[in-house]
Amino acid sequence: MAAADPWYVEAFREGYLQLYPHRDLGAARREAAFLVARGLRGRVLDLCCGFGRHTLALREQGFDAIGLDLSPELLAHAAQGPGWELLRGRLLRGDARVLPFAERSFGSLVNLFSSFGYFGEEGDRQVLREIARVLSPGGFLALDLMNPAFVRAHLVPFSESERAGARLLESRSLAEGGRLVRKDVEWQLESGPVRWREEVRLYEPAELARALEAAGLRPRETCGDFDGSPLAQGSPRQLVFAERV
Ligand SMILES: C[S@@+](CC[C@H](N)C(=O)[O-])C[C@H]1O[C@@H](n2cnc3c(N)ncnc32)[C@H](O)[C@@H]1O
Repeated sequence: MAAADPWYVEAFREGYLQLYPHRDLGAARREAAFLVARGLRGRVLDLCCGFGRHTLALREQGFDAIGLDLSPELLAHAAQGPGWELLRGRLLRGDARVLPFAERSFGSLVNLFSSFGYFGEEGDRQVLREIARVLSPGGFLALDLMNPAFVRAHLVPFSESERAGARLLESRSLAEGGRLVRKDVEWQLESGPVRWREEVRLYEPAELARALEAAGLRPRETCGDFDGSPLAQGSPRQLVFAERV
């Protein structure tokens, strides 16, 4: 019998788009504008782009932007959107751990909305090494992660809601001494329940800074959200800007 797909394949199918409708193009446009003001420049890779909303927002601003993602379902969704003309030939399927680009291919790389911390310690480090490899020296990196302190303080162990006319059950917990946040999702569709797990490693700011340095990426600045506020215990996000050494 074939082994089950890993969680990061199961979790990012069509259902993801219906469960997280607020992760839309409007928000992506605001976030892209913030990143440009923070120093994003040159040819851009949107790593783990999903359905390409930030890639599109950057293309609208005239950037030579490319998106890469593992999910064929999310990539296919991009072709149904209004901005498809700008994205045509710009989205590709690939794995963040083995990027299909030559070294120094990009002036900037963005990894947005908690798309890091999926592959275990060595896998995550491999992603950082790949990021460093494809960035030009002096290149700009933006990582947008969960803030561990905020997650621990606001974790809702169980919630029940309705999404797209179907009941949605979500259980959340911390594992590995609080370093891993786990969400079990059950969506009770008419056709039968769909279940998946999301399991993301939380990185403390200092720990992340060390991992970036080890990969050849020099941390420059951290923010607590896309409004430029400083990172604090109560910040919803952990935004890290780094430079390729
Ligand atoms: C939380 S979503 C964020 C998507 C997008 N950045 C956004 O803001 O809408 C995480 C994305 O990582 C992608 N992903 C998971 N594992 C991956 C891998 N090994 N290589 C590339 N992308 C991956 C998923 O398919 C999913 O689209």
